Amino acid sequence: MSPTHPPLAGRLDGLRSSAIRDLLKLTARGDVVSLAGGLPDVELMPRERLAAAAEAALSHNRCLQYTESPGWMPLREVLADRESTRLRRSVELGEIFVTHGSQQALSLLADVLLDPGALVVVEDPAYVGALQAFRTADARIVTVPLDAEGMCTDDLAALLAGGARPAVVHTVSNFHNPGGVTLSSQRRRELARLAEEYGFWVIEDDPYGELWFDSPAPAPVASHSRNVIRLSSASKIVSPSLRVGWMVAPEPVCRAVELLKQGADLCGSALAQQIAADVLADVPWLTDHVDHVREVYGERAKALVHAMRTRIGDRVHCRDASGGMFVWAQFTDGTDVDRLLPEALAAGVAYVPGSAFAVGGGYRDSMRMCFTTFDAATLDLAVDRLASALG
Ligand SMILES: Cc1ncc(COP(=O)(O)O)c(C=O)c1O
Repeated sequence: MSPTHPPLAGRLDGLRSSAIRDLLKLTARGDVVSLAGGLPDVELMPRERLAAAAEAALSHNRCLQYTESPGWMPLREVLADRESTRLRRSVELGEIFVTHGSQQALSLLADVLLDPGALVVVEDPAYVGALQAFRTADARIVTVPLDAEGMCTDDLAALLAGGARPAVVHTVSNFHNPGGVTLSSQRRRELARLAEEYGFWVIEDDPYGELWFDSPAPAPVASHSRNVIRLSSASKIVSPSLRVGWMVAPEPVCRAVELLKQGADLCGSALAQQIAADVLADVPWLTDHVDHVREVYGERAKALVHAMRTRIGDRVHCRDASGGMFVWAQFTDGTDVDRLLPEALAAGVAYVPGSAFAVGGGYRDSMRMCFTTFDAATLDLAVDRLASALG
């Protein structure tokens, strides 16, 4: 007799690991150059500076206790300062809420802002972590396209004019995951204006904003309206192991998130948050550190795009990467990248097919490649292998 167990909650029915994800497990093979991962480079993470911050934090016992649900106060103070500079206004402590990475902010906000069946607008292609959070909250998801200037706000305006009434619009405003693009200044203003006219929340999901290569990203969408909840994170600039993300949101939103966070995990780690506070407050050090990460990632991004253009030529359209961690490439010759993946893996290279980020199907001609963890020579090799799989 096969073992049985009581049922799981119905809301899990639609949440399954995709076939592509399962295939990508094969990329753990040592001989595959995996551009699929999406991880920051551990070699660039500041181990010694973090060790010094950990030692200082452990020189007393204050960080060994539970802390307040909205976060360890010294970190919230540092974040209020940082965000005041970003948003060009004085951000109050009551507007700052520290989360277990910005992913937890997405999950808690989905529960705080969405009743079952509420409408959420996302970009297509979308950040899958946000989709997961919104789907778990039983939201109805509709999409607007992404072009070289980010979310197409004209399409959003048309949806709204047609009667759609979203509770939330989610945008990855800087160096999009997976699309690589950045929302233009003019569209930022337009998105903020629409949020106020139609009364919806914008979640501005911004873990990549500081990783610009040539010039800084425009002022955040959140600098144009208080309807915008801004998410940011230490994951890509320091280390994801800290699990330190934060939101800037109106106080009633923070208080509601606090109630849910108490049910989820009571509070974050005071120790990790003190380490984050120490390194984020050390502005001269942080500036040098982030400059270095930017420089290395910028060189790698250029090497990957150059290799794609020279080896694969006009069979593929590759956007220039101006920041972040990803290059989005679209084949123009009818290549089906889902079908290509087993051959690419056999040739020793992996990528994430665009269909993994498609909300309603599509993007079988596109792929996301992450350039962060390989030097130019290895990226060249990866593209050679891709070219041989293409035949
Ligand atoms: C757009 C976006 N938002 C949020 C996250 C979550 O990051 P973290 O929870 O490490 O802050 C990621 C991670 O890749 C991301 O790409």
